[in-house]
Amino acid sequence: MAYVIGVDCGTSGTKTVLFDEKGTVVASCTIEYPMYQPKNGYAEQDPADWANAMVNTIKAVMAKSGVKAEDVKGIGISGQMHGLVMLDKDNNVLRKSIIWCDQRTAAEVDEMNQKLGRDKLIKITANPALTGWTAAKILWVKNNEPDIFEKCRHILLPKDYLRFILTGEYATEVSDASGMQLLDVPNRCWSDEVLTTLGIDKSWLGKVYESCEVTGQLTAQMAEATGLKAGTIVVGGAGDNAAAAIGTGVCEDGKAFTTIGTSGVVFAHTSGIAIDPKGRVHTCCAAVPGSWHVMGVTQGAGLSLKWFRDNFCGAEMETARGMGVDEYYLMDKAAEEVPVGANRLLYLPYLMGERTPHLDPDARGVFFGLSAMHKKRDMLRAVMEGVSYSLRDCVEVFREMDINVSDMMACGGGGSSPLWRSMLADLYNCPVKTASSKEGPALGVALLSMVGAGIYSSVPEACKAVVRTDKVQEPNAAAVPEYEKYYQLYREIYPALKAEFAKLAKM
Ligand code: XUL
Repeated sequence: MAYVIGVDCGTSGTKTVLFDEKGTVVASCTIEYPMYQPKNGYAEQDPADWANAMVNTIKAVMAKSGVKAEDVKGIGISGQMHGLVMLDKDNNVLRKSIIWCDQRTAAEVDEMNQKLGRDKLIKITANPALTGWTAAKILWVKNNEPDIFEKCRHILLPKDYLRFILTGEYATEVSDASGMQLLDVPNRCWSDEVLTTLGIDKSWLGKVYESCEVTGQLTAQMAEATGLKAGTIVVGGAGDNAAAAIGTGVCEDGKAFTTIGTSGVVFAHTSGIAIDPKGRVHTCCAAVPGSWHVMGVTQGAGLSLKWFRDNFCGAEMETARGMGVDEYYLMDKAAEEVPVGANRLLYLPYLMGERTPHLDPDARGVFFGLSAMHKKRDMLRAVMEGVSYSLRDCVEVFREMDINVSDMMACGGGGSSPLWRSMLADLYNCPVKTASSKEGPALGVALLSMVGAGIYSSVPEACKAVVRTDKVQEPNAAAVPEYEKYYQLYREIYPALKAEFAKLAKM
């Protein structure tokens, strides 16, 4: 039997899973690390934490499983997109990574629009200038930390830094590189025009591969550290969303998924390139060679629920510990007792600004309609509903773009909540399914590595062989119109507060 490893470098932790060639989990290990928020709107992580977590989780799955090193045929890496890792000439990390949800770059977005023009940016990079994407972060360092910029010789994304640690190669692949805003997305290569105009040296960027291509081999030093065999192949892998698509079988037109992790994403595969002229959803290269995807992003999805848990649910966390169950299970049960609409309470999940559909780094969270009758469980339900309304916003943009979704999967931590899945089914008014494997991104990159190792001949073939549907949540006919009323009201709240959010940001 052949085995492969999938590594997912997420925001809350890195998860490594050892799979056999049928996609069955043999061993899994996660190590968590902090996110630093030195100022309102800033978000950073230490690349050393990612690297240590990767090495130690690989070591743990190898030790736990007893699988022989020579039977592991490939490694795939997935990870949070857009994060900026800068290395000096000796490969030292120059500063903490500014990660995807950081919103400090409003001035650099203006600079990009001025230098390149919004239309040209959309034409080349398939997306408007975005605060969370890598190009704006690079310009921020150039403008604010010139000493660091001066020393920069290599720029890598989070998962590509891990590839560098494993193989010594400076490389990336098309799905994650799309989120740097330096890639010519229709042609799947770096854009000389964008790089030259922004003053970013092309030699600092890694070589661009397709996601299932072999990008390097495990070094002897890393083999020693992890328990794997030197020379094991490392494939391109994919940004976490493109990887989750492969792990849930979203590799042809009509297929889509919603993931609720720290961020929330609605993702649809497109065999041709589709761009929203208003820039409300992202267009990126898919991990299936020669195809693309669109995705709408809610910045604070699982993040909203985690924020609520950490600040207000100490008692539930303690009870859960005593009962030996997950605290989110108890929170779900409490929210289930509340009717649709949370007793007339709405929540806007904009704790870290918002992307789809507002593209507004200044937006912030709101509870709308609080009354003395509301209890904590109403607020809890309102948080889950508010995240679902913002995911519905993404589907509305797809519909405007004529991207029709006939098959919706749910994944990520939030996708395992039956209550959250039922909210999505009711708000999308379509069945929402789960995959039998819960490993989304890790399975996705493991499948890519199986293709790289020659176990399967193509990405769709690997998906067909391994990915299976599990539960199907049908929409509830009575709840659909109820939710619709609240959703329509939800859509009115942000425009009414937009100017006030901007004022607040300046205070
Ligand atoms: C996608 C995005 C997030 C991150 C973090 O554009 O920013 O989904 O990849 O997981």
